[in-house]
Amino acid sequence: MIVTTAQLFKQAYGKYAIGAYNINNLEQTVGLFKGNITSKAPFIIQISKGARKYSDKRFLEGMIRAADQIYPDAIFAVHLDHGDEENCYDCIKSGFYSSVMIDASHHEFEENIAITKRVVDAAHAKGISVEAELGQLGGVEEDIVGSVKLTNPAEAKEFVKRTGCDSLAVAIGTSHGAFKFKAEPGKKFSLHFEVIEEIQKLLPGFPMVMHGSSSVPKEEVDRINAAGGKIKDSSGVPEDQFLPAAKMGVCKVNIDTDGRLVWTRVHREFFRDHPEKFDLRDVGVPFIEEYAKMIAHKNQVLGSAGHLDEVRAALKK
Ligand code: G3H
Ligand code: 13P
Ligand code: ZN
Repeated sequence: MIVTTAQLFKQAYGKYAIGAYNINNLEQTVGLFKGNITSKAPFIIQISKGARKYSDKRFLEGMIRAADQIYPDAIFAVHLDHGDEENCYDCIKSGFYSSVMIDASHHEFEENIAITKRVVDAAHAKGISVEAELGQLGGVEEDIVGSVKLTNPAEAKEFVKRTGCDSLAVAIGTSHGAFKFKAEPGKKFSLHFEVIEEIQKLLPGFPMVMHGSSSVPKEEVDRINAAGGKIKDSSGVPEDQFLPAAKMGVCKVNIDTDGRLVWTRVHREFFRDHPEKFDLRDVGVPFIEEYAKMIAHKNQVLGSAGHLDEVRAALKK
C-alpha cells in the first residue's frame, strides 16, 4: 500500500526512524520488499534523478506498482530523492509520488527559500509533501561536490516557517557515498547531536531527515577488496546512533551506499568463485537474498522493524 511520508512520520516521530532506500533496478526492488516484509517494517522507496535516467522513470513506476500487488502487506511511500525544480514538478504531476525532495541547499539562504517555496506551493496543491534541505553535507551529491556546513538551528526555524516544507534534511555531520570519514583506530564518528537537539527544541514535532546515513561496514569493504575490489578504507555512521537521533525527531534515514556495497560484494565474490558462470539469474538470486538481509538489519537498528501492523491499524482509523 502506497502511503504518504507524512502518514509514516506521524507514527514514527520520537520513537523510531523510517528507512529510506534508493532503488535502481528489479533485483534491488525485490530485495527491498522482501527485507521490509520479513522485518515487518514500513519504509520509503527513494528514486533519484540518476535512477530516473538510468532505468527510465516508467520502468521504476511499473516495477513499484507491480511490487505493491505482489507484496500486499507492504506499507511504503514513494519519494523523489535530491530533486531539482524540474524533477519535482514532473513527479508532482505524475500522481505517483507521495513526496518530493527539493534540494536547493547549494544556493544562498534566500534563493533556497524562494525555490523551495515554489515547489511547496505546487506540491501542496496536489496533496504531496516536500522535503527540503538546509546546510551542506560533505561528499558527492549527484553532480555537486560540496564541503560540510552544519545546519544552523535558528535558520532552520525561519526556513521551515517561510517555505512551509513538511520535513527538513539537516546537515549534522554525515556525508554521501562510501568515503565519508577516514577510519582512524580508536576514534568513533559522532553525529552532531547538539544540532539535532537544538533544532528539535526550536521546531518541536517537526520531522528531520538524515542523508548520508550508510555505515560502510568494514567487513563489507574487506570482502569486496579480498575479491578484487579497490575500495579505500573509510567508515560511516555508527548504527547505534540512529535510535538516539530518532528519539530527537529524525524520522527518515537515507541509505543507498550500503546497498551498493552489498551488490558489489555479492557480484565480485560470485564471479571469483564461479568463473565459469554467465547466467545473470545465478548471481541475481543471492544478491536479492543478501540485499533483503541488509534491509531487515537496517530496520532493526532504525527501530522500524516490527511496527508494520501497528502502522496498518493506525492508518485504518
Ligand atoms: O544521495 C544520493 C543517492 O545516493 C542517490 O545516488 O544520485 O547516484 O542515484 P544517485
Ligand atoms: P549514503 O550515500 O550514505 O547511502 O546516503 C544516501 C542518501 O543520502 C540518499 O539521499
Ligand atoms: Zn542524500
